[in-house]
Formats: sequence, structure tokens, C-alpha cells
Amino acid sequence: MPNQKLIAFNWKENPATARDAVRLFRAVVRGLSGAPKGSAVVVFPPFLYLTELVRAARARRSSPSPLTLGAQDVFWENEGAYTGEIGPAMLRGIGKMVQWTIVGHSERRRSLGETDEMISKKLAASRAAGLRVVLCVGEPAEVRRKGSAAARRYVKDQLKKDLRGRDRRLFRHGDLVVAYEPIWAIGTGRHCSPEEAVAMSRFIKQEVPDAPVLYGGSVDGDTAESYLWYNEIDGVLVGAAGLRPKEVKKIITGNFHHG
Ligand code: PGA
Repeated sequence: MPNQKLIAFNWKENPATARDAVRLFRAVVRGLSGAPKGSAVVVFPPFLYLTELVRAARARRSSPSPLTLGAQDVFWENEGAYTGEIGPAMLRGIGKMVQWTIVGHSERRRSLGETDEMISKKLAASRAAGLRVVLCVGEPAEVRRKGSAAARRYVKDQLKKDLRGRDRRLFRHGDLVVAYEPIWAIGTGRHCSPEEAVAMSRFIKQEVPDAPVLYGGSVDGDTAESYLWYNEIDGVLVGAAGLRPKEVKKIITGNFHHG
């Protein structure tokens, strides 16, 4: 994805109703008209709203559109006796617009006990079904306190485990995107400095040469540009600020990219 910035909105378990989801989605669509050329936007709503949003997008669509959808998680089997799970084939079946999954978000790693082995399986199943993957990595505060070398070691270890045994050809052409999301910066308002994010992005690009790298963690309308300004940062993954239409507009229209 050279020169192209990817703006990803992770809605997490929000908003509370499908109606509000469509309303928020419309704010994203409106913002797109002012987006810099070459940038792409992907929205990750709760599973439940994907169909509704595909419908809402069809109603307004002027193609080709840089707007796609993704799921915040995915299971590694396409069907079977797996209560509560949703597989990659089901996601593909919703519509062409659903192109992405997030795997390895720290909230799932920490609160739901998701292991690197599970993440690796989710990643492979997603790619096998033709879905593009945002793989989240990032260190906790106690590691960052030990310094950037410790943070890099932590991220390297996550990448190694999550990508172990996976054919790198599956991840060409930007189909695997790595999101660097330091845990201490997620939902805390504590910013990772752009310089630190750039340094980690460079490091990740050495480890996974073909992957675009996003930064995530308390990004909002005021800070998005400070990350996107750098060539080393291919986009941002936005949580809380993506639920506020004004912030959404600022993030989408304000980003600019350097060749
Ligand atoms: P935040 O979340 O922007 O609310 O910090 C980012 C994320 O968890 O992806």
C-alpha cells in the first residue's frame, strides 16, 4: 500500500443499537468526500451490524469506493459445532464490502485469554478465505517502563508466535497489516509519541517486510495527523474517537500523506 494511508475504525462493543450504527456509519461516508486521494477507510463494527451497514453502503454507493468493512474478530473454522463463533466464510458471504478481520486485539488477548496460537489460527483462516487481516501487537506498561528495547523484544516475540509457520506469501500485497497498539495507550488518553511509534513501525517492517504498519492507541482528530505525517506509518487504528462524528470527520479529512 505505498503512499496510501489506511484509516481503520474499531467500534468495539458500540453503539448500542443498529440505528445508531447506521447513523455513525453515515458520518464516516460523509467524511469520505473530503478524504485525501489515495486514502482508504475501513470500519470494524460489531458482527451484528455488518449486514445492515453493507445495505446502508449500497444505498449510497458511488464506486469505486475506498470504504470497506471488517469484523473485530473471527473464528478459525468455517462451520461446525462451535457455539457462538463466526467463521471467515460467513463473513465473506455477507458481501464484497466485508474484506477484513482484526486478530489479536489486546482486549481479547488480556480479557478473554486469547493465545498466540489461537491468533495464528485465526490469521491463517482469514487469509485462506481471502480476508485481509489487521494483526494487533503491542506491549503493556510494565514492559514499556523497561525501555524501548524491551518493548521491541516483546513485539518481536508476539509477531514470531502469531506468524509462526505461516507462509509469507499469504501476506503479500498489504493483505496482512500490523497495528502497533501499545496497551498503555489504548483508551487511556496517554499518547505514544509519534517518534516512538515510527521507531516501532520501522522495527516491525524489518520483521514483517511486506506489511503496512498502523498505529493505534488514543488517536483522535487532534493527533491523527501527527502519526500519519510519517511515511513509516501507513495508517491509524482508532477506537473511542471513532464513535464521535466530528472526530471521525477530522480524522478522515485531516490526514495527509507524503510520497
Ligand atoms: P482507542 O482504542 O483509540 O480508544 O485507544 C484503539 C484500539 O483499541 O484499537
